[in-house]
Amino acid sequence: MSETFLDKAYAVQGADAVRKLYDDWAAGYDADLDETGYATPRRVAAVLRAEMADPAAPVLDFGCGTGLSGAALAAAGFTTIDGVDVSDGMLDQARAKALYRNVDLIGEADSLTDRAGCYAGIVAIGVIGPGGAPADVIERLWAILPSGGRFAVSFNDHTLRDPAFVARLEACVANGAGRILVREHGDHLRGRGIGATVFVLAKS
Ligand SMILES: C[S@@+](CC[C@H](N)C(=O)[O-])C[C@H]1O[C@@H](n2cnc3c(N)ncnc32)[C@H](O)[C@@H]1O
Repeated sequence: MSETFLDKAYAVQGADAVRKLYDDWAAGYDADLDETGYATPRRVAAVLRAEMADPAAPVLDFGCGTGLSGAALAAAGFTTIDGVDVSDGMLDQARAKALYRNVDLIGEADSLTDRAGCYAGIVAIGVIGPGGAPADVIERLWAILPSGGRFAVSFNDHTLRDPAFVARLEACVANGAGRILVREHGDHLRGRGIGATVFVLAKS
């Protein structure tokens, strides 16, 4: 049996290979994830909505891909969503959905400091971990979040096996710099029996 994109996604290494995998997968990504019961976008959007008073406040969907995460944010009530991603192929699909205020291609090492303070909420849904964006993205996103902002992130079971990812989240909120408001484990890809923990952090 040939290896599926989903199989490859957990093993791919290096920024160029990650970008190529998602460029190649873009056209079939939504159907594959739908078939596998991708639960995380809806879970993240629901807990973020519960922790953000104003659904019109701008939200950054980091690693937005084809826009499944943006669609979940919109369904939860958010109305001002920007998407960024390293894969132009995935962004083409996101653009076609017309869900986002802006959709931009970024480099994998982009600090996004030009967007500092612009977003009341930042999400990274199914993005950070082995086969995806590296752990230092956590500090980069936390750095551009304004005081009072919310950072919502999911780590799937593969990512949770490496305690360094959660440790980096905990370091962000150390010494009163913020608080972890939500930490919930649940379904990620139901069809594969893979879970994910969803976190919402508040910046002091
Ligand atoms: C599994 S998809 C998730 C897409 C979307 N958030 C969703 O929930 O469907 C992972 C996405 O992260 C993007 N990505 C990987 N590394 C990245 C990085 N360093 N910076 C930004 N996006 C990245 C990939 O191109 C891909 O679109």
